Amino acid sequence: MSVTATSNATISYDGKTATLPVLTGTLGPAVADIRKLQSELGVFTYDPAYGTTAACESKITFIDGDEGVLLHRGYPIDQLAEQASFLEVAYMLLNGELPTGAQNDAFVTQIKQHTMLHEQLRHFFNGYRRDAHPMSMLCGTVGALSAFYHDSLDMHDAEQRELAAMRLIAKLPTLAAWSYKYTQGFPFVYPRNDLSYAENFLYMMFAMPSEPYTVSPVLSRAMDRILILHADHEQNASTSTVRLAGSTGANPFACIAAGIAALWGPAHGGANEAVLKMLAEIGTKENIPDFVAKVKDKNSGVKLMGFGHRVYKNFDPRAKIMQQTCHEVLAELGIKDEPLLDLAVELERVALEDPYFVQRKLYPNVDFYSGIILKAMGIPTSMFTVLFAVARTVGWVSQWKEMIEEPGQRIGRPRQLYTGAPRRDLVPLASRG
Ligand code: ACO
Repeated sequence: MSVTATSNATISYDGKTATLPVLTGTLGPAVADIRKLQSELGVFTYDPAYGTTAACESKITFIDGDEGVLLHRGYPIDQLAEQASFLEVAYMLLNGELPTGAQNDAFVTQIKQHTMLHEQLRHFFNGYRRDAHPMSMLCGTVGALSAFYHDSLDMHDAEQRELAAMRLIAKLPTLAAWSYKYTQGFPFVYPRNDLSYAENFLYMMFAMPSEPYTVSPVLSRAMDRILILHADHEQNASTSTVRLAGSTGANPFACIAAGIAALWGPAHGGANEAVLKMLAEIGTKENIPDFVAKVKDKNSGVKLMGFGHRVYKNFDPRAKIMQQTCHEVLAELGIKDEPLLDLAVELERVALEDPYFVQRKLYPNVDFYSGIILKAMGIPTSMFTVLFAVARTVGWVSQWKEMIEEPGQRIGRPRQLYTGAPRRDLVPLASRG
């Protein structure tokens, strides 16, 4: 740990008092170091869903949820989205600083060397039903990469870590695009290394061997921006999953597969897919009041998808950029009237004026508009979370690497408040009646 305590907090229990060092980072609230609490007071802390627990020290991403701030390595997300490319951001997340021109060229070349998949990996796709969700294929094939790269599985070797990071970042777009192609029954399209990262992804998604395909510069720029906006987000559920899996010494491909599994859920990366389903269900603006009433009824189990965030309680800075990108993409594509966008804008307006959402500080998150952009770009709904996983792989790998490189890194192992049966003796089946 690189932080020294500047003050203390005390906590008393059962006639004993423990002094807890309070650590202050560069930004954000101070944290009380509770590691000696159990040995000094005999109690654990209880924090289900980790709402107030800092599980690690990190230098990668900072979020101020009250102010709507998101910084990567200190740089505001809007500056990165406007002025940097996704691979520049990837380099920075991995290495700490933005690359110089020469470093960027070398990094881009290195990534391009790893875009292809082992031919044997193609056969994995044939094991899936054609109607399989592409996330299931992504999860399976990313995990399967560990069977192909025995030379980059040792997490204690810095060179192997670097190689695994490059392979994951480079191969994810290929695996993602092939997951889509397989569901369509279309031939797999091999990567083209003369294209940028975002262009290449769009090319592998939409090109056909039978005719030429030109990637629109506006759409590739929008795709690059979407990738940047999803690249990392501090210690969210999937990143924490990657860290926890990685803390056991599991290989990086297995750890990223675990992150993909965690991202899949509708409360996390599955939300943009869920937003479009929700908008389709609402159908027209006239149905918004009934839908909002249902959301407010706790018994309905219905949530306003794309709204709310564990950390952002003011606005999600990514949502603002996403909304702007949405308008740009629709304008570029010549889509003047997009009923889903009209519906989303009206739904957002109604929700932001409703005391239920105002009191609970629920605002649109990054996923509220991203689905509409992706749909306009021709990306099928089932691929939304897959695309998110492509982008977030950079964050996962950076966080995994940071954790492994931390001196004294240990296996993650939360404790519990046990409320089950006390010790009791087994009654044999014959005597149980
Ligand atoms: N619609 C309706 N009510 C909501 C919503 C929502 N989207 N989100 C939160 N609430 C309510 C909760 O029911 C709770 O109400 P209560 O105080 O009356 O019990 C209150 O707001 C506080 O919510 P929490 O449950 O404490 O919020 P939490 O931090 O646990 O959850 C989450 C955050 C999972 C993102 C939640 O807001 C949600 O499910 N949103 C919809 C799904 C979504 O858009 N997820 C994407 C997140 S961003 C990302 O992963 C990229």
